[in-house]
Amino acid sequence: MRVALGSDHAGFALKESLKETLRALGAEVDDLGTHDETSVDYVDYARRVGEEVARGAAERGIAICGTGIGMSIAANKVAGVRAALCHEGYSARHSREHNDANVLCLGARVIGKELAVEVVRVFLSSGFSGGRHRHRVEKIAALEDSTGGPGSPAPR
Ligand code: RB5
Repeated sequence: MRVALGSDHAGFALKESLKETLRALGAEVDDLGTHDETSVDYVDYARRVGEEVARGAAERGIAICGTGIGMSIAANKVAGVRAALCHEGYSARHSREHNDANVLCLGARVIGKELAVEVVRVFLSSGFSGGRHRHRVEKIAALEDSTGGPGSPAPR
């Protein structure tokens, strides 16, 4: 599995340490930066990770900032991205099984390395359950089409 990996300066150290974890899990890592702790805007890296996943160059993405919140807000603006902010395994598993999440967001200032490793392992090894969850995920995609910006009518 190819995994697009990105962070801002606050997530840089965790991103670096997760590379080893990802490779040990058999993933091919596509490191989209940032490459040091110089202050950068998380939005740019959320976009890189999101676009890589949305165009199918990577099957999953992992985006890390201080809280994970900025990354999740920004990544979810990329059409086709379903980003989930998870700091424990239960949410990580359900983000895959129920929501077919394709980007995992982590807050490096929130979660320790050991727990982050566990969350990543669960996120990569869990699959979408389909069934009743499928049409809900399809409705999310429909939202992208029907809420194109200012002036778009709210769907009924
Ligand atoms: C950077 O200081 C911090 O704002 C960023 O990493 C992230 O937490 C934003 O959501």
